Amino acid sequence: MLVIIKEDYDAVSAEAARLLAERLRNKPNLVLGLATGSTPLGLYRELIRCHREQGLDFSKVTTFNLDEYVGLPPDHEQSYHRFMWDNFLSHVNLDPRYVHIPNGMVRDIAAHCKWYEERIRAAGGIDLQVLGIGANGHIAFNEPGSSLGSRTRVKTLTRTTRDDNARFFATFDEVPRYAITMGIGTIMEARELLLLATGESKAQAIHDAVEGPLMARVPASMIQMHGLAHVIVDRAAASRLTGEYVSSLEEGTLVRRPLGPGER
Ligand code: GLP
Repeated sequence: MLVIIKEDYDAVSAEAARLLAERLRNKPNLVLGLATGSTPLGLYRELIRCHREQGLDFSKVTTFNLDEYVGLPPDHEQSYHRFMWDNFLSHVNLDPRYVHIPNGMVRDIAAHCKWYEERIRAAGGIDLQVLGIGANGHIAFNEPGSSLGSRTRVKTLTRTTRDDNARFFATFDEVPRYAITMGIGTIMEARELLLLATGESKAQAIHDAVEGPLMARVPASMIQMHGLAHVIVDRAAASRLTGEYVSSLEEGTLVRRPLGPGER
């Protein structure tokens, strides 16, 4: 796990975009796991800019979103479908046929979840999964106590999460109670993880995820078990970390140097 501490939100977004763009240039048919929430918005803005100004090409990319509210139609203002199309998908040259977001309106949720997992497998698995983190340590909608081996399924949202999201709805009763979410086991199968967090309200969750014990109580702590995970945070979200961490991808990566005399 490489923890990178940047100055602020914009620097976190730029660093995350740099990593993602590099992966995409190396593999044009990248399978990308996407997240919603205010945290990755800066990353999406930056990727849109790279697409417009540098021709960053998404035409062969396949995407899988982490989660969706149950009961919200795709065109609902607060659905994750709408969020993704408004904030990212429609601004780059993604082929809509390669975009996958769980459908919160299906009748048979269990069959839909099974189908979603099969689509991920058929695409060859997720190469890079973008993640945010809930203030209670959740990832996607895997709330505290979620099985660490869980697969895509329906989850009941905790009161804390519903409270956090209440600002987007007119009344608390309108905040959905359930969501379809990739499981922690599903997320852990992605070849690379990119967890982003900014702001003081995430400091405890980041501490628990990065430096706390691994436990279902803090679903994001599972990132410690992943073989290739990057955690990019700003100073505020890093304020409760006590370890020594780097300030850039380069600092944390072995740089190839030219061979010296007598070296092979
Ligand atoms: C929701 C999403 C998560 C996201 C979290 C944090 O619960 N399901 O994927 O990480 O919100 O959102 P924000 O980035 O707005 O703090």
